[in-house]
Amino acid sequence: MSAHLAVHDIEIRLLIEAIFLRYGHDFRDYAQASLRRRILQAQQRMDAASITALQERVLHDPDQFAQLLQYLTVPVSEMFRDPAYFLALREHVVPILHTYPSVKVWVAGCSTGEEVFSLAILLREEGLLSRTQIYATDINPASLEKARLGIFPLEAIRGYTANYQRAGGRSAFSDYYTAAYDAARFDPSLCADVIFADHSLATDSVFAETQLVSCRNVLIYFNRELQDRALGLFHESLSHRGFLGLGSKESIDFSGYSNRFDTHARAERIYRKAT
Ligand SMILES: C[S@@+](CC[C@H](N)C(=O)[O-])C[C@H]1O[C@@H](n2cnc3c(N)ncnc32)[C@H](O)[C@@H]1O
Repeated sequence: MSAHLAVHDIEIRLLIEAIFLRYGHDFRDYAQASLRRRILQAQQRMDAASITALQERVLHDPDQFAQLLQYLTVPVSEMFRDPAYFLALREHVVPILHTYPSVKVWVAGCSTGEEVFSLAILLREEGLLSRTQIYATDINPASLEKARLGIFPLEAIRGYTANYQRAGGRSAFSDYYTAAYDAARFDPSLCADVIFADHSLATDSVFAETQLVSCRNVLIYFNRELQDRALGLFHESLSHRGFLGLGSKESIDFSGYSNRFDTHARAERIYRKAT
């Protein structure tokens, strides 16, 4: 007798297929357990009687899909998240980037922009921002819209200030934003050379000649095949001896790319394209 899937799992598969066919967003190779959890959470919060009912709404109404996308994409970020990562970039990557006449950085899965603004601040302090082009990409248009504005909740700033200092910040963090009501608006000149764009690691292609790819806390949501696809894109996008930074719970160690990168800063998950 063949094993039967639970009804939930059938519904989830159909929902994911419907999203792909209708909207082109491909969640088919995301890690199953967390995807399942987030879909069940969306069903509850969006007040749908079943996942099939949710699918019906999402298929017929792009606004409902936009709402569901908020659950599927986990739009959570922080400035100078894992300060040791940014400190390692400052101390062990920036000196090498200084040897290039111009620098291209790709922040993949940039969410609402906190990582991009952190990198822009760091690069400005290290005298590199004026010759750096940053591409910041994500699949969630609402997140990209927020990222472009560079406005973050004031209540988060205390934590970000501590992170910034631990990341080797050279100024007063308050030099970079103006506070109004409950929001902090970051200096727009930080993002003068940032291109925010819709790009999926699951379905889109490479960015050529990049010196640094920072893709943090994104691969963790993918299954092994999709992780390898993304790592392949990064490998191909990087210039000779380019750098790759991942999140603290991510690694290339067990991927198909483990011998295509050297470890540059192990604890901080910074790798360098092997020759
Ligand atoms: C938890 S956030 C990480 C944000 C930021 N990198 C950080 O570390 O703070 C994960 C981001 O990955 C994005 N994402 C998910 N699937 C993606 C894909 N296939 N291609 C590009 N970005 C994706 C989500 O939209 C979300 O903004």
